[in-house]
Amino acid sequence: MKLALAVTGASGVGLANKFIEHLPNTIELHIVASKNSAIVSIYENKKIFFHNDENIASSISSGSFGIDKTIILPCSMNTLAKIACGIADNLPTRIASVALKERKTLLLAPREMPFSTIALENMHKLSFMGVIISPPVIAYYSDIKTVEDMEMFLVGKWYDALGIENDIYKRWCNNDK
Ligand SMILES: Cc1cc2nc3c(=O)[nH]c(=O)nc-3n(C[C@H](O)[C@H](O)[C@H](O)COP(=O)(O)O)c2cc1C
Repeated sequence: MKLALAVTGASGVGLANKFIEHLPNTIELHIVASKNSAIVSIYENKKIFFHNDENIASSISSGSFGIDKTIILPCSMNTLAKIACGIADNLPTRIASVALKERKTLLLAPREMPFSTIALENMHKLSFMGVIISPPVIAYYSDIKTVEDMEMFLVGKWYDALGIENDIYKRWCNNDK
């Protein structure tokens, strides 16, 4: 799978690091961080390609490159609004618009609290187009005791939504027979 990850300037950049850390080595990962975010990562043994957020001519900015799935984690309200309006003025917004036009999986993890009506309208609009709106919202059924447990839960849920097999969080099990 060719997976594109865009990191934008919302709180929770550490979640993107966790997302990369636990990703199976079989996945080809293309990362673009908006200049308002800061991602510092060296991951050995992973197929990772870094792209400049202003380089609109980057390989992943073309549908022909064949990115299978795209995740924006975290997704700022600024980037969310641009995607909802079809603005593609940097690489994160361009790869989102490519995913939309190519009808490929696009997952956004919008991070803000509370959400404005504008942000909710933007999410509603994109959800109707098939975009997976998956903000970092924790659950209390997963035996979460530490921040690490919480992060593993969130990353596991994002992997699930993208079809990436994982057992990095405790799933709900009601001892069904
Ligand atoms: C410390 C800090 C935390 C921020 N957290 C958020 C956030 O959680 N959500 C959000 O939408 N914007 C947040 N912002 C504002 C965005 O960084 C700002 O809107 C920026 O223009 C987003 O640019 P980008 O979408 O190109 O990354 C934060 C800014 C700072 C300085």
